[in-house]
Amino acid sequence: MRFDGKVFMVTGAASGMGLLTCQCAVKEGGCAAMCDVNPEAAQEQADRINAEYPGRAIALQCDVLDYAQITAARDETVRRFGSIDVLCNFAGGSATRIKGVPGELEFPDVPIEVYDWGLDVNLKGQMHMAHAVAKQMREQKSGVIVNIGSITGEEGSAKSVDYAAAKSGAMHGLTKSLAQFGGKYGIRCVCVSPGPVLTRAAMARMKTLMGRAAEPKEIVDFVLYLCSEQGAFATGVNFLVDGGRSVMFNKT
Ligand SMILES: NC(=O)c1ccc[n+]([C@@H]2O[C@H](COP(=O)([O-])OP(=O)(O)OC[C@H]3O[C@@H](n4cnc5c(N)ncnc54)[C@H](O)[C@@H]3O)[C@@H](O)[C@H]2O)c1
Repeated sequence: MRFDGKVFMVTGAASGMGLLTCQCAVKEGGCAAMCDVNPEAAQEQADRINAEYPGRAIALQCDVLDYAQITAARDETVRRFGSIDVLCNFAGGSATRIKGVPGELEFPDVPIEVYDWGLDVNLKGQMHMAHAVAKQMREQKSGVIVNIGSITGEEGSAKSVDYAAAKSGAMHGLTKSLAQFGGKYGIRCVCVSPGPVLTRAAMARMKTLMGRAAEPKEIVDFVLYLCSEQGAFATGVNFLVDGGRSVMFNKT
């Protein structure tokens, strides 16, 4: 019961690794404020958790592009659970994939609005969430913020330019800065940058030294370690958890 009484606020909580983080945190004694741009899907997942662990999950409509929704979600989380001990910023993804940009379009042909959306969700969204939640954590004098980067940030991507830009140096600078702000308040900030993860079957195509993509649980377990007391000395740093992809010579 590593997370007995701990309150997790998680974005992108309706599916994938965000959802799994909520499920695992609750199983280990915590409560989950499940934030997503899709409130129906978040509610369905919160209902499932509550069926087994009554009252331990709430679903919140929270588009990370909308600061008013973010502060409302923060306030509702504190009202319902009394604190925010962990913020996990999972909401995100490649804009060209999510917006269905045709494969043959090159960088200059992709509408700039698509890239703007990608930068906003993947970078500004994480910063806006941290900005709102840090107020609460400063009052509590404790907290952990987990940003989510990506191997794509290390490698670059000729098409997912926004995604690579957001999930790389900018994210690492954000992580370092939040750690510097938070040190004296007992607030830690780390970034976890996964390699390919099987939240989507297509990720199995990306090679790694391990000869496979990660199971979502392998990344979530790593995140939860960092959120727990076991990770108490980790702050201001990015962890690349990529099955060795970044040190492969031949990735094709
Ligand atoms: N899957 C991978 O291979 C992989 C690799 C590296 C990094 N990542 C990153 O990990 C994170 C989670 O990935 P996943 O595959 O588990 O996610 P996913 O695609 O399964 O889920 C993403 C969730 O985010 C929500 N979301 C999207 N836009 C949002 C917004 N504006 N506000 C709030 N919620 C929003 C979606 O509704 C969805 O529930 C993402 O940031 C992704 O970029 C994933």
